[in-house]
Amino acid sequence: MNMSATAPLSDAMRSFIEGLPKTELHLHIEGTLEPELLFALAQRNNIELPYDTVESLRAAYAFTDLQSFLDLYYAGANVLRTEQDFYDMTAAYIAQARADQVRHAEIFFDPQTHTERGIPMATVFAGIARALRQARDEHGFSSVMIMSFLRHMSEAEAFITLEQALPLREQYADLWSAIGLDSSERGNPPEKFQRVFARCRELGFRVVAHAGEEGPAAYVSDALDLLQVERIDHGVRSEEDPALIERLIKLRMPLTVCPLSNLKLCVVDDMRQHNLARLLRAGVAVTVNSDDPAYFGGYMNANYLAVASALALSREELVQLARNGIAASFISTAEKERLSIELEQYARSH
Ligand code: HPA
Ligand code: ZN
Repeated sequence: MNMSATAPLSDAMRSFIEGLPKTELHLHIEGTLEPELLFALAQRNNIELPYDTVESLRAAYAFTDLQSFLDLYYAGANVLRTEQDFYDMTAAYIAQARADQVRHAEIFFDPQTHTERGIPMATVFAGIARALRQARDEHGFSSVMIMSFLRHMSEAEAFITLEQALPLREQYADLWSAIGLDSSERGNPPEKFQRVFARCRELGFRVVAHAGEEGPAAYVSDALDLLQVERIDHGVRSEEDPALIERLIKLRMPLTVCPLSNLKLCVVDDMRQHNLARLLRAGVAVTVNSDDPAYFGGYMNANYLAVASALALSREELVQLARNGIAASFISTAEKERLSIELEQYARSH
């Protein structure tokens, strides 16, 4: 069997995708740590790695499911120690995103991965925020920070994390406006975090949650009903419940889909079987995102190119994916309008 039977993209289509102005709404900053930087930070911080070379580390990125990835992702994050480390990682991501014509990014970070190792909460915020503010000031690159709770930990621990972060809220009010939920999905349903999410909403945070990546469609419904999220991260398994799909369409509920992630974590066996195009054509507000690009083999353009090729998306469909991203973002109406004008102008003139 020829496993690469997808039509190759024309040069014109490729350059159309590469130049398309984009927003990225599902990106874990710890998942942007490339092996080269990971080695450099290990050396800077005198940390011994269980891998001899960048190549041998990269070769270990052969995942069978979400957990097999998370084990390496958390191990990799151990090299992040100082404010400068978080800055360097974030600055490297921004450079990649800008090269892919990303105009705005909403960035997950997992403070518990770091505070558990004795890294102060303030260090994590400071390094990430310094890079984001610099990108905004120098290049007009806008962003939102989404502080995420690790769902394999307890709700009590999520409350403690919230308590530790709240004193920083004012200092980072220009960036930190949302809360997320990530890590091992199966066995850690939305209901486990119902109270802490209620508290976050009461405090005025926007809330999102990973659901329906490996977990069942019921976790998506529960994220809507019990956590009252404004977006679902992944959500691809929603299709197993047709009534839920109807609901997502009616609500215009965004799904932040991550195609290369789904392929690498064996959520789909083959990109041609990905349901992104089906969901889009049914009227679900799907968006394209890179999740953990250093681990899954590509940033935003690679994700767009992969689905365009495997699912034979039209130019209009690609523009609709980009439109959905703008609509689903947590920016002001004026900023959405500005990005929409740029996108529509691009679509008309290319
Ligand atoms: N799913 C759950 N947790 C995560 C992911 C993901 O795709 N990436 C980083 N943490
Ligand atoms: Zn994710």
